Amino acid sequence: MGEIKLKLERITKRRLIRQNEDMEEITVLKDISVEIKPKEVFAVVGPSGSGKSTLLRLLNRLEDLSDGSIFLDGQNIKDMDVIALRRKVALVFQVPILFDGTVERNILFSLKIREEPNLEGVAEKYINLVGLKRNLLSRNSNELSVGQKQRISIARALTSEPEVLLMDEPTSALDPTATHNIESLILDLKSKIGLTIVFVTHDIEQAKRVGERGMVLVNGEKIEEGEIPYLLENPQNSITQEFIKGILT
Ligand SMILES: Nc1ncnc2c1ncn2[C@@H]1O[C@H](COP(=O)(O)OP(=O)(O)OP(=O)(O)O)[C@@H](O)[C@H]1O
Ligand SMILES: [Mg+2]
Repeated sequence: MGEIKLKLERITKRRLIRQNEDMEEITVLKDISVEIKPKEVFAVVGPSGSGKSTLLRLLNRLEDLSDGSIFLDGQNIKDMDVIALRRKVALVFQVPILFDGTVERNILFSLKIREEPNLEGVAEKYINLVGLKRNLLSRNSNELSVGQKQRISIARALTSEPEVLLMDEPTSALDPTATHNIESLILDLKSKIGLTIVFVTHDIEQAKRVGERGMVLVNGEKIEEGEIPYLLENPQNSITQEFIKGILT
């Protein structure tokens, strides 16, 4: 059982969209099967609109599958309690979403409801884990840089002690330095707490820097899968070749 963390079995996602006056069904993910191993950083790479965010939303049931199944440690996620699932499979969004309040309250946000004897110690532990200083805890989250905010949202996601962290283009709002810091943090978290990370990006070079294995999605289809960097340096499919050359964005 320890071999595969997440198993996606022939998953398909269809959506109804409005086209002028009519509703039309579109298929945003088509018959995708893939296995993600424990403690790996799995990169999902693809142009805009290819279905990357949809895939992550299916993994923690922010949306439902149209067809196929997803298994976490061998258990079908549709049979799991959704709150328990989201504790195990946490999602970090593209743009950090913090509320107006102290950094500490933002980090502890999802823990407040639980009995926790030493909340201050918990906040300190997680701010440390994301590489920020504890004196930031009393600051208002509005006063942070975007890079700091993104780390705080990662700290918050980690408080539920997830086994899988889903990251949806977590650096697309950041400058190169903050991007570099988040990339180092990802590698650090993987080695420190053995997280399995599914990392979405449209940036091939970033996928090479952080990914160990991955897949390329185009138009909702998995067109490549394999080890990184080999996968991205020797694309088999002409669409991937165009994407890598920057023709598709
Ligand atoms: N809420 C929604 N309602 C209807 N269609 C949607 C919705 N969200 C996404 N889509 C459509 O689903 C498809 C996949 O979108 P998705 O957001 O998963 O792509 P993406 O790869 O994450 O793109 P990007 O790189 O721009 O974030 C697109 O055709 C998009 O227009
Ligand atoms: Mg997206």
